Amino acid sequence: MVLVRQNTFDEMSRCAADLIAAQLKRKPKSVLGLATGSSPLGVYRRLIELYKAGEIDFSEAFTVNLDEYCGLPATHPESYARFMRENFFDHINVKPENTFIPNGNAADPDAECARYDRLIGWLGGIDLQLLGIGFNGHIGFNEPSEHFIDETHRVKLTRSTLLANGRFFPDGNPPAYAITVGMKAITRAKSVVLIAGEEKFAIVKRAFSGGVTPEIPASILLDHPNATVIYTGEEDIR
Ligand code: F6R
Repeated sequence: MVLVRQNTFDEMSRCAADLIAAQLKRKPKSVLGLATGSSPLGVYRRLIELYKAGEIDFSEAFTVNLDEYCGLPATHPESYARFMRENFFDHINVKPENTFIPNGNAADPDAECARYDRLIGWLGGIDLQLLGIGFNGHIGFNEPSEHFIDETHRVKLTRSTLLANGRFFPDGNPPAYAITVGMKAITRAKSVVLIAGEEKFAIVKRAFSGGVTPEIPASILLDHPNATVIYTGEEDIR
């Protein structure tokens, strides 16, 4: 794993977008693992610019999102399905049928989780996984716990996550549960790019200056052979 420090959110976003653009140029049929939230917004803006400038092409790419809230239909304003359409998919030439997000509204969430893992397997795994990080060190919605969970699963969101994500909901209350890919899909990704703005400096420092522990899920990337953590802050972490 390598740590790359950038001075601004914009530089961080460009740096991550360049890695994704290089991946797509190398392999147009790439399977991109994607994240939602505030962190990747600059990356998506930059990738849209590169697409509009004719530098990258998504026509053969596949995308697999990390997570979705339980109980929200894909049309809900705060669903991650809608977030992805509005902030990325509607502005590039990815085929809608090649974009995948867990169905948070599935009648049988366990069956949906199993289906999602089969889907990722059928796609041949993830080529490049883009990640943000929670204030508690979560990646996807793999929350701090006593052990890592390998498979896609339904998770009860922690208080820290509900508080952090309340800002996106008019009543301040996100759904209490979500479906998230597990650690296997993330750690088996051929490359991983984690982005963390200045407000995440403390957790980035904790996650990557100790050892691997499920209490700080992102720390699992310490063992990944091709992970790049791009963070923003005034000092080097190590
Ligand atoms: C979102 C996701 C989460 C976020 C994390 C940071 O798909 O998987 O792990 O990346 O909660 O969220 P922001 O970027 O909003 O601070």
